[in-house]
Amino acid sequence: MASGVIKALSPWRFVRFTSTLCPHFRIPAVQLHTTGTLMGASVEDFNRAKDQLGTLKTDPGNEVKLKIYALFKQATQGQCNTPKPGMMDFVNKAKWEAWKSLGSVSQEEARQKYVDLISSLVAAEGPAVAASPTGSAKAFESLIFTTEDGITTIRLNRPQKKNAITVKMYEELIEALDLAGKDKSVLTVLTGSGDYYCSGNDLNNFTNVPEGGAEKMAKDSGDLLRRFVAAYIDFPKPLIAVVNGPAVGISVTVLGLFDAVYATERATFHTPFTQLGQSPEGCSSYTFPKIMSPAKANEVLLFNKKLTATQAYKLGLVTEVFPDNTFQSEIWTRLKAYAKLPPNSLALSKQLIRGIEKEKLHAVNVAEVERLTERWTSDECMQAIVNFFQAKSKL
Ligand code: COA
Repeated sequence: MASGVIKALSPWRFVRFTSTLCPHFRIPAVQLHTTGTLMGASVEDFNRAKDQLGTLKTDPGNEVKLKIYALFKQATQGQCNTPKPGMMDFVNKAKWEAWKSLGSVSQEEARQKYVDLISSLVAAEGPAVAASPTGSAKAFESLIFTTEDGITTIRLNRPQKKNAITVKMYEELIEALDLAGKDKSVLTVLTGSGDYYCSGNDLNNFTNVPEGGAEKMAKDSGDLLRRFVAAYIDFPKPLIAVVNGPAVGISVTVLGLFDAVYATERATFHTPFTQLGQSPEGCSSYTFPKIMSPAKANEVLLFNKKLTATQAYKLGLVTEVFPDNTFQSEIWTRLKAYAKLPPNSLALSKQLIRGIEKEKLHAVNVAEVERLTERWTSDECMQAIVNFFQAKSKL
């Protein structure tokens, strides 16, 4: 969706997201018979899904909210036959277009899709927020940190910015990984809120130049990046990525340091480093050629090739791809079963598999950071960042 529309539509421009969703998407009372089973989802399922929508803790993002709105309208009123809102009425036009795009989908099918979508969002919230077994219920600004059923979940939580990673968020992720590594959970999962997994480094990190100038900024950023990647290299127990949508930049490169990567079919994997005047990080200059073969990795790391989930699976970066509408329910069921395996055996086996390379990975991390520190102050990189923000201001 064009960012211009997103901006106009964005509920954050009008109200803070609350558990009842934004007013533009407030769902009217269901006018359906309350008995009997419809084809697919029952009326009870449908009403339950409507109630569950109000309990979501994280904003699912504009695209998903439009989908919810459209399915609800189609389910309760049928095909869209209302006149198209005027050109300048961005919000209602986007809603109308979403509804209209469902065409002649039957009300029964729309109800089923609505129920499936809400269930996947509820499942995506994972286990309820709980104090970690160490006793500390850690609250983060940009992450949701939960522990339940033997699984610690770290959820990136800036859906309105596609989970782009700010400096504060890097620090929080390092701390969250440290906590998760030490708690009593069996597995640790990293995932995202909303429609993106993560859009990589927040490019605003480059625009907040501190007093010491660009050189100091590059040095501090390099130090942060090195510590961030080291937290993945040293992670002591199985680390799993649940890639709920597109992934960009560093959120892709560190995947080579995870023990399993599960993705929705909607996910894409993009590392536009040279396009941004930068160079690979997250140990990808070492792990990607090993995982994919040098020839394939070069297309991704040098020539900015964006991979679909299926391509990433075929190249070995992704463990398994799931249909989007069953992704969340299938993956959490599987992970809960994995979390019942003997924890020490799992952790020690992971350490055996990874331990042999640890030293090498740390050396690669240091070399990549050194190269990037130089790149960040280069004209090529500065120009690319300026271009990104200029392109956005023209929208
Ligand atoms: N850094 C800073 N802001 C980012 C961001 C990033 N990496 N990714 C997304 N955002 C912001 C956008 O600026 C926008 O903010 P706004 O609402 O204040 O304008 C918001 O998140 C939504 O993104 P938008 O661009 O409107 O959504 P889209 O669906 O059209 O495009 C992306 C999504 C991820 C393709 C696009 O935002 C993008 O290319 N981001 C940069 C990705 C990148 O280069 N990362 C670094 C790799 S090294």
